[in-house]
Amino acid sequence: MKTLIAYSTKTGNTKKVAEAINDIIPFSDLKDISQVESLDYDLIIIGTWIDKGTADEKALKFMKSVENKKVAFFFTLGAYPNSDHAKDCIKNISKVLEENKNEIIGSYHCQGAIDPQLIEFMKKTFGPDHPHGPNSERIKRWKDASTHPDEKDLEEAKNTFKKLLNL
Ligand SMILES: Cc1cc2nc3c(=O)[nH]c(=O)nc-3n(C[C@H](O)[C@H](O)[C@H](O)COP(=O)(O)O)c2cc1C
Repeated sequence: MKTLIAYSTKTGNTKKVAEAINDIIPFSDLKDISQVESLDYDLIIIGTWIDKGTADEKALKFMKSVENKKVAFFFTLGAYPNSDHAKDCIKNISKVLEENKNEIIGSYHCQGAIDPQLIEFMKKTFGPDHPHGPNSERIKRWKDASTHPDEKDLEEAKNTFKKLLNL
């Protein structure tokens, strides 16, 4: 099966997951999303980082260009993987892909370290009661995210796609 793995990344987390998935799929093409020239593939796996609760702008644009394909997706996010926010991200991304009649065969997601510059910005700009401000719960979550994706996440990503593709 001719497979494309196209990823969008700002600070490298999503690229790490993309590379792990690429390692276990024979003859797949791994490309930064901005370098994809052809959609002539049997399966398109799209990787994105989460921005405002959905795929980032570049990945969204790419997703909207994919029609009538077999697809899968993966993402990294600052929130916990089992959070309602992560579930909403799955829904939001699925909706975009389904609008163009793509068949989604599966997905994977894990936490990804948040850009330290963004954390500094949030600490300086917002009070602890603001939805993005530094209260103890958020500070813990930012710290927890900082070590991801880790080896376990990458193994899980590989295993998810091995199962999905019967490898
Ligand atoms: C501008 C910006 C907005 C973000 N918005 C969200 C968000 O809405 N929800 C979330 O869980 N994480 C959010 N994050 C965290 C990133 O999705 C996360 O750190 C991701 O792993 C970054 O991936 P990358 O290294 O591939 O760029 C945001 C990060 C940035 C820089």
